[in-house]
Amino acid sequence: MRKLIAGNWKMNGVSASLVEAERLMALFEFAGPEIVICPPATLVAAMAARFRGSPLLVGGQDCHAQPSGAHTGDISAEMLKDAGASYVIVGHSERRQDHGESDAAVRAKAEAGRRAGLAPIVCVGETESERRAGRETEVVGRQLEGSLPRGPGPIVIAYEPVWAIGTGLTPTPEDIAAMHAFIRGRAGGGVRLLYGGSVKPTNARDILHLPEVNGALVGGASLKAEEFHAIVRAAM
Ligand code: PGA
Repeated sequence: MRKLIAGNWKMNGVSASLVEAERLMALFEFAGPEIVICPPATLVAAMAARFRGSPLLVGGQDCHAQPSGAHTGDISAEMLKDAGASYVIVGHSERRQDHGESDAAVRAKAEAGRRAGLAPIVCVGETESERRAGRETEVVGRQLEGSLPRGPGPIVIAYEPVWAIGTGLTPTPEDIAAMHAFIRGRAGGGVRLLYGGSVKPTNARDILHLPEVNGALVGGASLKAEEFHAIVRAAM
């Protein structure tokens, strides 16, 4: 399975930051993994225009479940598609926490992504206290059950333990492999499974070559082209 390295810029980046996207394009090697950058919504169209004619792809960080309507401030999957996106992240733990998104809401967004022709990247992952209580597979199992889109269509799953996001902490390789094996058992063979949470150039090689790890979702380290490119190289 071809690996996928996705960069999640979160709420970072203005038009001047597109320079990083251009630097990434200059570093890109065609034989490597698939690469997608998910900038803030304000930059999706401009980044997609920069990437046109290159194999680099653009994604959204969230979408509304409806295609259009009276939802002030929201962005639909159809709008992301129209702006040039190919992927959309749904159910990131920051959305689940900050916006109270339930599994059902995440599923509706994932299905909206498919409806619009985007591949949804559905995020799951346990909190620190859930892991300390040994409940990580129970929690992730429930999230998978409730938030994966129904029916056939593209899907990527990102396992992101909440306590590993932006903290510099990562699970042990054994713990990552065990969770990915568990998710594989639930999701089936054809689904790309990404690991996310403090992926850096220094740990990417060890993580990206674990069994059932088909790529990474990278936050902080995706903001600098050289760092992100080092992670992409580690996948090869
Ligand atoms: P991080 O974020 O790489 O900065 O830990 C990952 C994510 O939230 O997707």
